[in-house]
Amino acid sequence: MYSTNDIRRAFLDFFGANEHHIAPSAPLVPYNDPTLMFVAAGMVPFKNVFTGLESPPAPRAASSQKCVRAGGKHNDLDNVGYTARHLTFFEMLGNFSFGDYFKERAIELAWNLITKELGLDRDRLLVTVYHTDDQAHQLWRKIAGLPDDRIIRIATKDNFWAAGPDGPCGPCSEIFYDYGPSVAGGPPGSPDEDGDRFVEIWNLVFMQHLQAGDEIVGDLPRPSIDTGMGLERIASVMQGQQNVFEIDTFRTLIEASEALVGAAADEESIASHRVIADHLRSTSFLMADGVLPSNEGRGYVLRRIMRRAMRHAHLLGAKEPLMHRLVPALVTEMGQAYPELVRGQPLITETLEREETRFRQTLEKGLRLLDDATGDMGEGDTLDGETAFKLYDTYGFPYDLTEDALRSRGITVDDAGFESAMARQKAAARAAWKGSGQAADSEVWFDIAEREGATEFTGYTSTTGEGRVVALVKDGAEVDSAKAGDEVIILTNQTPFYGESGGQTGDTGTMSAPSGVKVRVTDTGKPLGRLHTHSAVIETGEVRKGDTLHLDVDVARRDRVRANHSATHLVHAALRNRLGEHVTQKGSLVAEDKLRFDFSHPKPLSDDDIIAIEAEVNAEIRANEAVTTRLMTPDDAVAAGALALFGEKYGDEVRVLSMGRKGGEGRNYSVELCGGTHVRATGDIQLFRIVSESAVSSGVRRIEALTGDAARQWLVCREEALKAAAGALRTNPEDVADRVAALLDERKQLERELAEAKKQLALGGGGIATGPQDETVGEVTFNGQVLHGLDPKDLRGLLDEAKKRIGSGVAAICAVNEGKAAFAAAVTDDLTARFSAVDLVRAGVEVLGGKGGGGRPDMAQGGGPDGSKADDAIAAVRAILARVDA
Ligand code: ALA
Repeated sequence: MYSTNDIRRAFLDFFGANEHHIAPSAPLVPYNDPTLMFVAAGMVPFKNVFTGLESPPAPRAASSQKCVRAGGKHNDLDNVGYTARHLTFFEMLGNFSFGDYFKERAIELAWNLITKELGLDRDRLLVTVYHTDDQAHQLWRKIAGLPDDRIIRIATKDNFWAAGPDGPCGPCSEIFYDYGPSVAGGPPGSPDEDGDRFVEIWNLVFMQHLQAGDEIVGDLPRPSIDTGMGLERIASVMQGQQNVFEIDTFRTLIEASEALVGAAADEESIASHRVIADHLRSTSFLMADGVLPSNEGRGYVLRRIMRRAMRHAHLLGAKEPLMHRLVPALVTEMGQAYPELVRGQPLITETLEREETRFRQTLEKGLRLLDDATGDMGEGDTLDGETAFKLYDTYGFPYDLTEDALRSRGITVDDAGFESAMARQKAAARAAWKGSGQAADSEVWFDIAEREGATEFTGYTSTTGEGRVVALVKDGAEVDSAKAGDEVIILTNQTPFYGESGGQTGDTGTMSAPSGVKVRVTDTGKPLGRLHTHSAVIETGEVRKGDTLHLDVDVARRDRVRANHSATHLVHAALRNRLGEHVTQKGSLVAEDKLRFDFSHPKPLSDDDIIAIEAEVNAEIRANEAVTTRLMTPDDAVAAGALALFGEKYGDEVRVLSMGRKGGEGRNYSVELCGGTHVRATGDIQLFRIVSESAVSSGVRRIEALTGDAARQWLVCREEALKAAAGALRTNPEDVADRVAALLDERKQLERELAEAKKQLALGGGGIATGPQDETVGEVTFNGQVLHGLDPKDLRGLLDEAKKRIGSGVAAICAVNEGKAAFAAAVTDDLTARFSAVDLVRAGVEVLGGKGGGGRPDMAQGGGPDGSKADDAIAAVRAILARVDA
């Protein structure tokens, strides 16, 4: 018997041998198509290759692509477990020609594979073609030798395949397998085609056209081929099963759940086992590709699928969380083909266990409420929307879980009532927001958030991607389009741009479209905590609501921000280690060029503290350990040792960042709650340097620090400055400090000497203390001097010296410093009866623009602002002596 793994291998080997490039499955979250929640067909990763936007990996390719079909509120999720073929997760085998071979070769390859390689009975096969496709009809006759009655023309969309309303499309041809007359159902195109007898196994799409809004708008550059064969379906055929859940892979998973619940599946319980097996696959593969449970977008689809499975585990009587214990069986079965499952196993296991533990806390209460509300209902009755909403809001029952729980009793749910209860709750939230006095401009964000839901942030794992424009806001109001030159705020359904929050600055970057649109994003905000608003300048082209744009975050800048953010976590830990547990974060700023961290601590850090903290952080950086992220409930996070901000409001779920080496109790160096973006490994921070430490307020200190190249450049600048100083001092950088200390000593000494010399100069060397400048005014000997730079406190001493030398006479000095003048005069005792030093000083001071002056008749002092009049001030004294004497 061919196992499912054998069939996958045989398919890829066959196309490999036929010169096809074997492409690994792309992740489930499409990187190139924002209109899709998950990859749901093998061609999705190649969409832009068909249209010519991207170059092909090779002219022909083949893959086994992971697919998830579970999306909006109404979807196939309902049916999974109860029908023969519905699955949320499946693998699509496909071969692709990108303008290489076309219909003939595609039909030939498909026919050879299923009849020769896989050995299906050709008599059980029949095909359909699009009603106008005579060529395909002819080719099936020629290549497969099928008679006309087994080549069925179909006129409907069933035989025209498109990758959604926009994108490549073309007529298709499907291969069907006939399970034989014992199974009810008619061939395709017949009234009872929906029966299980004829099952489509392979769809060959002849990709030729391009459509937009469901209208054909042109042709592809070259006719191409896209095919899709559901692996589980071909496995059912090859293993002689009519129900996909009977194939080997599902049997293995169901046996594992039977073993864990301790009972073999019976007619009543088989649907629950099937639900669990299918949902285990979709949830595990989604988590392996980076989707984690949340209350919005993809994460909520994941949570809904999980909770549906968890209710069925409960229904089977599982006393403990069940799902996570099934992961090993899944990894054994599928891990070889999909190594991401092996890599993701710890995260998948942990997340499933946490979700199930948590959900079980409300599940029983919710089920009791449901029982009470539906106790006397029967087939055909409807549960009111209020109760369904209460189950959703209070007990975490997704809408489809409630539907699923009532399904076996034939009870439906009042969808409109559920919606109106939901709308009422949203209106109350808006009113509460407004009542809290928030800015009026948040009204527009409420409108958008209610209509579009939260922006899905894809930027933890990537910095590029596609987004569909859901709103444009100009001057506070929504607009439909924006053209070159406009400054607008652009909102997309998903974005890799981080919106400013938690101290981390918003991303910048560009947006573009092949039509020539170019947009510069100057900042990203995060109003209401769930919308990402891109502040944008349209540089060329026009952006309209509904457009798809390619989004590119400025990666170099983001990398610098990441390094700074991760460094704040490390420094927080280092501060606590060094200073004590009282250190808690009081605020932070994580920008592109630096980080700032405020924390509680009563006194300045010493130089030794700073050196030790830096050394510790840099040691963690060098250890280069991977940074890990886990989602947890806030309580679990704190129990796991995560540092949380006291008073901060956290949602149901928090991201827990673990960083640095493992210490005691296996705990990482830093464990913190954080929604920001971080480095992959601490080595990415490269270098950490504290550049300032200061006070913010009493008891709160602030450090500013640099990382990476900014830290290196800072060090280079310091080094350059030191070298320049050493050069100027004619010494080595190491000796600069000693040299400067020596120079300062020398300078002090010189200053002292200079003051002394000035004094000496005034006293001796032709100064006031020596004769030559004495003059006789009338009968009186007079010496008047202007001395620049003389310290005013030396005036009296000098005048005393002068008096002694002259014996009988008058002396005056005007000392000029920085434009101002100090003025003093002295009169020997024998002359004080004739001249008062006070009068002489007053006369001088007046000339200098000053007022007053005081002292005694033998010695007085004053000053004035106008030093340029110094000579005139001396002259004024001379004039008095002349006058009195005359
Ligand atoms: N893309 C085609 C499909 O999904 C083959 O059916």
